[in-house]
Amino acid sequence: MAERAAAAVAGNAQRIYMDDFRVRRSGWRVIRHGKGLTCFFMLLAGGLRLRQEWLTNTRLRTDKQTGSSGNGRGMKQNAEMMQYAIAAHGLRKTYKGNKKAAPKEALKGIDLQIPRGSIFGLLGPNGAGKSTFINILAGLVRKTDGDVSVWGFDIDRNARQARAALGIVPQEINTDVFFTPKEALDIQAGLYGVPKDQRRSMELLAALGLEDKADSYVRQLSGGMKRRLLVAKAMIHSPPILILDEPTAGVDIELRKQLWDYVLELHAAGVTIVLTTHYLEEAQELCDQIAIIHEGEVVACEPTEKLIASLDRKTLMVTPLHEIAAAPDLGVFNAEVKPDGRLAIPYQPSKAQVGEILEHLSAANIAVKDLSTVESDLEDVFLELTYRKAG
Ligand SMILES: Nc1ncnc2c1ncn2[C@@H]1O[C@H](COP(=O)(O)OP(=O)(O)OP(=O)(O)O)[C@@H](O)[C@H]1O
Ligand SMILES: [Mg+2]
Repeated sequence: MAERAAAAVAGNAQRIYMDDFRVRRSGWRVIRHGKGLTCFFMLLAGGLRLRQEWLTNTRLRTDKQTGSSGNGRGMKQNAEMMQYAIAAHGLRKTYKGNKKAAPKEALKGIDLQIPRGSIFGLLGPNGAGKSTFINILAGLVRKTDGDVSVWGFDIDRNARQARAALGIVPQEINTDVFFTPKEALDIQAGLYGVPKDQRRSMELLAALGLEDKADSYVRQLSGGMKRRLLVAKAMIHSPPILILDEPTAGVDIELRKQLWDYVLELHAAGVTIVLTTHYLEEAQELCDQIAIIHEGEVVACEPTEKLIASLDRKTLMVTPLHEIAAAPDLGVFNAEVKPDGRLAIPYQPSKAQVGEILEHLSAANIAVKDLSTVESDLEDVFLELTYRKAG
């Protein structure tokens, strides 16, 4: 899959396959059924997309003809770009203000390198800038400053290859309501220039549990089904990178598991996965590397285990032999009596040993029946780096 995906990116100039003009035919069918105006706009939008694709192709051909290397940077930086699935340097975005709203600096000079083959979590509170970053990659938002490369292609100079290297599942559900899932995937495949005999629309629908909905109208799908259809659309051209912007928001537990199973399958086949989620347990379980964005800045970017260990905080849970009414004085350690009668004693593993705490407990005449330690988790790290710092 990775090879096929990479080949699709590096391959020949894309073509838009003529059978995708079926859009037009199904469009006329809809007109006959009295939805003329909507259909007119659909055709117009389709036409504009095709024109955009044509313009991009033309620009690329010009680049090739002039022998432009695409980015004009030094060899070292090129090598770095090739090593990462996505690399951003000094990425800035300021949304222009208007009469009602002041300008908003959503990204304040982001440096981020996402290794090829990773499952990379992009976390941050609401409004941190995650979707802005993703939308810049998708070409939906224009960056204010900085450099970004996708699979080694600069998003300005090699826009088409950069876009072709990505499959993006957006945060907002934006499905084509007048088409069936199968038609929607075929059209998407056509726009990406996937030859008819290489299309995998039904295979993708089956992988995402939507096989029996292949010929229903998209508007008849539930929210969770639409989100899975967006994943299928994102993967239709076999890109080497799949970006999921909060894919499990509003998806029930079973479907969430099904979605992650599919994403993990893609990852095992070599696809680089980038995801944003507010379910921190999910991120901790799935991601091998995590970046935390806060107010437009990257405040942490580490392998998941290292990030959690960086908090340097554990809690010793002590079950006393006899019931304790109030927290004892344990010197430098603070103890808290939990509702179940256990004592919770936080400590920093780099500075204190469990033995020291036990000595304090003994000095306070507390006999220990049982004890365990609780590691920090991603939620602790997240809160420490975002809300607590802000407060
Ligand atoms: N089109 C826009 N015009 C003006 N400001 C915008 C626009 N889009 C986003 N913003 C602002 O940019 C900031 C970052 O928004 P963004 O959507 O990137 O955040 P996010 O990290 O994806 O948040 P969430 O977790 O809620 O999805 C926010 O303050 C948001 O209000
Ligand atoms: Mg967002």
